[in-house]
Amino acid sequence: MTYQDGFETLAIHAGQEPDPVTGAVVPPIYQVSTYKQDGVGGLRGGYEYSRSANPTRTALEQCLAALEGAPRALAFASGMAAEDCLLRTVCSPGDHVLVPDDAYGGTYRLFARVFAGWGLTHDVVPISHVAAVREQLAVRKTTVVWAETPTNPLLGIADIRALAEAAHEAGALLVVDNTFASPYLQQPLALGADVVVHSTTKYLGGHSDVVGGALVVADPELAERLAFTQNATGGVAGPFDSWLTLRGVKTLAARMDRHCRNAMRVAQMLAEHPAVSEVLYPGLPSHPGHKTAQEQMRAFGGIVSFRLLAGEEAAVRACARTRLFTLGESLGGVESLIEHPARMTHASVTGSPLEVPSDLIRLSVGIEDCDDLLDDLRQALSDS
Ligand SMILES: Cc1ncc(COP(=O)(O)O)c(C=O)c1O
Repeated sequence: MTYQDGFETLAIHAGQEPDPVTGAVVPPIYQVSTYKQDGVGGLRGGYEYSRSANPTRTALEQCLAALEGAPRALAFASGMAAEDCLLRTVCSPGDHVLVPDDAYGGTYRLFARVFAGWGLTHDVVPISHVAAVREQLAVRKTTVVWAETPTNPLLGIADIRALAEAAHEAGALLVVDNTFASPYLQQPLALGADVVVHSTTKYLGGHSDVVGGALVVADPELAERLAFTQNATGGVAGPFDSWLTLRGVKTLAARMDRHCRNAMRVAQMLAEHPAVSEVLYPGLPSHPGHKTAQEQMRAFGGIVSFRLLAGEEAAVRACARTRLFTLGESLGGVESLIEHPARMTHASVTGSPLEVPSDLIRLSVGIEDCDDLLDDLRQALSDS
């Protein structure tokens, strides 16, 4: 009999059979670089050298693949290392890609400052407007359409199914950065995307204690090419980082449910607050992507951005005034974080088409008691 295990079961068991030798219930940290061969080429379980493969990394990769409903995942030292490996593999100098008008600043920097020098050209497209993406695809042969949804930090929603159709008709691949949603809330491959990118640093790891990235792919042949580049260039996740990430993944569903509940309450409170000019959260019916988000996501995620009527200096002051929301970059951990994207995570896109409003604050809403979080925000905004 074969079983079709649910998401929560896969998060705890996929790739994580008890150790065959000792019965250890959790995959051990294989802190090794090399493996004894039984005669030249006689590998045990295919392990030869830990850049090529390591059992703790394999456990994480098998689990991530199962969670995204894919045959294969690859784990990297960071989200950026994953993106770099992907672009080197699927693009060649002279190719053209479409990048979203809102995205993690580091992703845009990779296109604009690193791959541009390699000969990869890009156009910025409003990724929430499929008609505009189609128009751009008609202008020029394109290799990759890159999407984030929800986007960082403006929480835009891209229609994955419609983008996949548009990309495929034009002979392009659709890449979806699923970091904000996590596989618990959204599974882009099932909607037609070709590659999923994660910064596992965020919700998958979930505890602000490890940096990592992943690529998840539906096509085994593409997975093989990516694995070749990963081994050739070496940006792999180490065994301890893989173990920490896998430990985080086990509680992903429980954490995400709570993140989403708290974020919705925070968004609703801010929407009523007199100091706030706009709340950006796809769970609010007023959000332009609400319906699409409802269709393609289980819930709306833990990130809430908002703008202050009083402008940039008030936003900067509010960020420094919270007690529980810690002022810092990153997101997706159990603890709440607050930041000013224009001066922090998105400083690198100042002056570019991805520049973000200076009165914007981004919250990563944690899983603390939500009443405490609401009180903290109210006091931080009290004289804004
Ligand atoms: C949406 C998104 N993608 C990719 C990255 C890059 O990941 P990393 O910081 O793990 O390299 C980030 C980092 O903040 C991100 O927010």
